[in-house]
Amino acid sequence: MEAPITLPTTTDRASIYAALHPQVEALLATSPDAISAMANLSAALHAAFGWHWVGFYRVVGNELVLGPFQGPVACTRIGFGKGVCGSAWQQERTMVVPDVELFPGHIACSSLSRSEIVVPLRNGAGKVVAVLDVDSTEVADFDTLDAEQLAMLCAPVEALLG
Ligand code: SME
Repeated sequence: MEAPITLPTTTDRASIYAALHPQVEALLATSPDAISAMANLSAALHAAFGWHWVGFYRVVGNELVLGPFQGPVACTRIGFGKGVCGSAWQQERTMVVPDVELFPGHIACSSLSRSEIVVPLRNGAGKVVAVLDVDSTEVADFDTLDAEQLAMLCAPVEALLG
């Protein structure tokens, strides 16, 4: 059985990330499979921060297809350059959107989402093959700390992406 994730009793996000790193690394080290790793990382992040929606979309052909996630049901397919996820894929960069209502073309899977961060995941050849999408019910809930820390937490998943 996998050890449960234990977290400090603080709302300080940097401290929560610091506690998460070794545990996520140990958890993902038990998985030889990218989908399992995405599933457990989604669960760990959702439990740690209580965000509205945490999950992955994978590049399949010419679109993003819904992968493992935690939260309400979501759109299953997103085109290249569409919404925040498709834009992060197209621009090959992390996108932090403080207010989704001000983002042209935002795909509203849930009307409760107010801000969002999308982190691209690359395979060994440097090609974007998936994205991590995190949605919050709070406006401006994400900043450069999240961009940096979430990218670091995704590194073990990227290592499984070929
Ligand atoms: N809001 C995203 C779509 C995915 S869901 O929120 C889960 C976007 O605009 O890319």
